[in-house]
Amino acid sequence: MTKILNGNQLANEIKKEIVEDIKEKILKKNKRFPHLGIILTGNNYSSIKYVNNKIKECKNIGFKYTLIHLPKDSSEKEILNEINNMNKNPMIDGFIIQLPLEKHVNKNKIISSIDPKKDVDGFHPENIGKMILEMDSFFPATALGIITMLEKYNIQIKGKHSVVIGRSIIVGKPISILLSRNNLIGNSTVTIAHSKTPNIIYHTKKADIIVVAVGIPKFVTGEMIKNGSIIIDVGINNINETVIVGDVDFKSVYGKAAFVTPVPGGVGPMTRIMLLKNTLKAALNNR
Ligand code: GUN
Repeated sequence: MTKILNGNQLANEIKKEIVEDIKEKILKKNKRFPHLGIILTGNNYSSIKYVNNKIKECKNIGFKYTLIHLPKDSSEKEILNEINNMNKNPMIDGFIIQLPLEKHVNKNKIISSIDPKKDVDGFHPENIGKMILEMDSFFPATALGIITMLEKYNIQIKGKHSVVIGRSIIVGKPISILLSRNNLIGNSTVTIAHSKTPNIIYHTKKADIIVVAVGIPKFVTGEMIKNGSIIIDVGINNINETVIVGDVDFKSVYGKAAFVTPVPGGVGPMTRIMLLKNTLKAALNNR
């Protein structure tokens, strides 16, 4: 029997916890709800969709939000100017710049210019460094969402062999760090596979846990996995306006895996709620 990990249900439970925290820890002191800033550049279809979903989540829970949508050809200086405004604006608790950025922009320079105390995506070198050092910091939302999901479903990861497919700063790198850290939720042995890894199936066949974030529809199939494994699908591939598929061939792993996350309704809602959780954390830290 394969159990489906329900990200929608879990995200709703966490939403209730956030609402309680806002009542108890924020509204009793001042009447301002947490405020998330979003900087979006260009018209990338997926980015606009992600940002709209983040805004929907803010509205749903009562967070304030400010969206700055800059044109595709905005210069580095113009983007840095908006970041500087958000850094200085005391009404903004935390903010993100939606990735990917256009090719003419230096991504690392942009991310490094975000005030680490407002970096609710957790991509700033200071926050990444703190995460590696196992210090308190903002953890990137998708990685935090996956770890929280495993924790809430009481899935033991200590001692297990995890294979992370993909090494992006958004998902692959942070989740591999969190899975391997010496912590209650961690202590897994992690293999990181990527586009230059030959014979990926050799690794996935031996994995107790697979986290896949490669952006290739149905990349992981039933024949690549071990019986009883845990399959975490981070892929959101828009096949057309209405159909989204993950990086896992759900039908072929179903019945063989012990646990699998669906797409949609798995990691996606967890990512969105963790961004709000980080924004609440920023409001509590910074005010
Ligand atoms: N693009 C895809 N996922 C993310 C994310 O979690 N944060 C940002 N800033 N950009 C993204």
